[in-house]
Amino acid sequence: MQEKIIILDFGSQTTQLIGRRVRELDTYCEILPYNKFPHGDENIKGVILSGSPFSVYDEKAFKTDLSAIRGKYPILGICYGAQFLAYSNGGKVEPAGSREYGRAHLSRFCKENPLFKNVRDNSQVWMSHGDTITQVPDNFNIIASTDEVSVAAYQIAGEPVWGVQFHPEVFHTEDGTQILRNFVADICGCKQDWSPASFIESTVAKLKEQLGDDKVVLGLSGGVDSSVAAVLLNKAIGKNLTCIFVDHGLLRKNEYENVLHDYEHLGLNVIGVNAKDKFYSELAGVKEPERKRKIIGKGFIDVFDAEAHKIKNVKWLAQGTIYPDVIESLSITGTVIKSHHNVGGLPEKMNLKLCEPLRLLFKDEVRRVGRELGMMERLINRHPFPGPGLAVRILGDITPEKVRILQEADDIFIQGLRDWNLYDKVWQAGAILLPVQSVGVMGDERTYENAVALRAVTSTDAMTADWARLPYEFLGKVSNDIINKVKGVNRVTYDISSKPPSTIEWE
Ligand code: XMP
Repeated sequence: MQEKIIILDFGSQTTQLIGRRVRELDTYCEILPYNKFPHGDENIKGVILSGSPFSVYDEKAFKTDLSAIRGKYPILGICYGAQFLAYSNGGKVEPAGSREYGRAHLSRFCKENPLFKNVRDNSQVWMSHGDTITQVPDNFNIIASTDEVSVAAYQIAGEPVWGVQFHPEVFHTEDGTQILRNFVADICGCKQDWSPASFIESTVAKLKEQLGDDKVVLGLSGGVDSSVAAVLLNKAIGKNLTCIFVDHGLLRKNEYENVLHDYEHLGLNVIGVNAKDKFYSELAGVKEPERKRKIIGKGFIDVFDAEAHKIKNVKWLAQGTIYPDVIESLSITGTVIKSHHNVGGLPEKMNLKLCEPLRLLFKDEVRRVGRELGMMERLINRHPFPGPGLAVRILGDITPEKVRILQEADDIFIQGLRDWNLYDKVWQAGAILLPVQSVGVMGDERTYENAVALRAVTSTDAMTADWARLPYEFLGKVSNDIINKVKGVNRVTYDISSKPPSTIEWE
């Protein structure tokens, strides 16, 4: 039995963070839309209600009937979750004088309350709310206040139901992890035994049962997710798994050869397909980013489908989908800024059953599982790389010559990051080929050549990102090397925009 905490998502930006914090407490949890509680699941130990972009008074506010949950499980409402509980029981919630945002301190709190075990006096908490609870229902006991907010936390008398106005899941709430631990371990009684090893053991057993003697195909990209999925499946079903790695001609320099080489060590059954020409000819003259993505997505499906059909009796398509993708597709408020789902149409087209062994893991957990499976750090710590590859880093149309220029520049940058021990300090890095030429001078000659932008960001989940503060000496050296060694480039710039409002990729 896999005990779990259910997090009901009312649309807050920090809902995923609550999930990660609970997992960091070695406790399995699932994030579900606020109105999709899995009644009848016997493994549930407790429920957390997330925050929300809405006020309880908004017409569009997410509301749900909690009567079947209350009384059955311990509940912790966070921010809107706390306001919603108070409001729907007759309490008063009102707009705060000014939006309360930022640091506050628990100046008074009830030390004996189990939610606050081991919480320090005057502990810093993080507030972020437009409304505030001004009056709690009669049977609610206020158990914490800050100087500004009198109802910073409450418990319903005689019930295992709490509400906190602050966000225990964010880093700036100093004792946030302790508060969540108190809830998850002490109050809900979770055993905290969720670990990569236990995940592998139960997943391999499940895969064996699910797949039996069936044949499975999987598209490898060289990235962490598909690699870990492949190794896990290989452990479960061995040679019944065939991996297909498509070279669309938009990979990094030598990536195709390196990746095939790395997989050999892992004992995987991999077929490499060189389909460069097909992609270059289909992309010729196409400038529009989304159109490039569509062409590459469709081309990939065609090549993959043709290869998979050469294998007899395939029943399943495996994918390295991870939890943030799943949450995004369930999302109640999500807006799509760029289409990231490269191969959205693949399962439908191939008429295969879908197997996604990592669909409930966060990225850092995928890495921990990979390590536990004995995979090389080089594979595990690889930066994310977009499915359409260098196509979204060549602004405008794509030619083999532009790909060559960008591969060379990118290789110098990435190799430099490794040599200077900076690679693992950034989330992701790469070079972008700009559709501009500028004047330069080399020797006695005037040049009129391409400009390349370098991009390196820090991030924890790619939802937000900041530009990496790389040392000037390093940037200077890389710029020099690129201009001296890459024919066709005479200018290098460094991108210092953050996400939002920019994005990580340029297209
Ligand atoms: P943005 O540019 O939206 O990127 O800030 C966020 C993360 O997603 C990656 N990305 C993609 N990955 N197909 C992918 O598989 C895509 O079309 C795509 N576009 C962006 C990007 O590299 C970053 O890690």
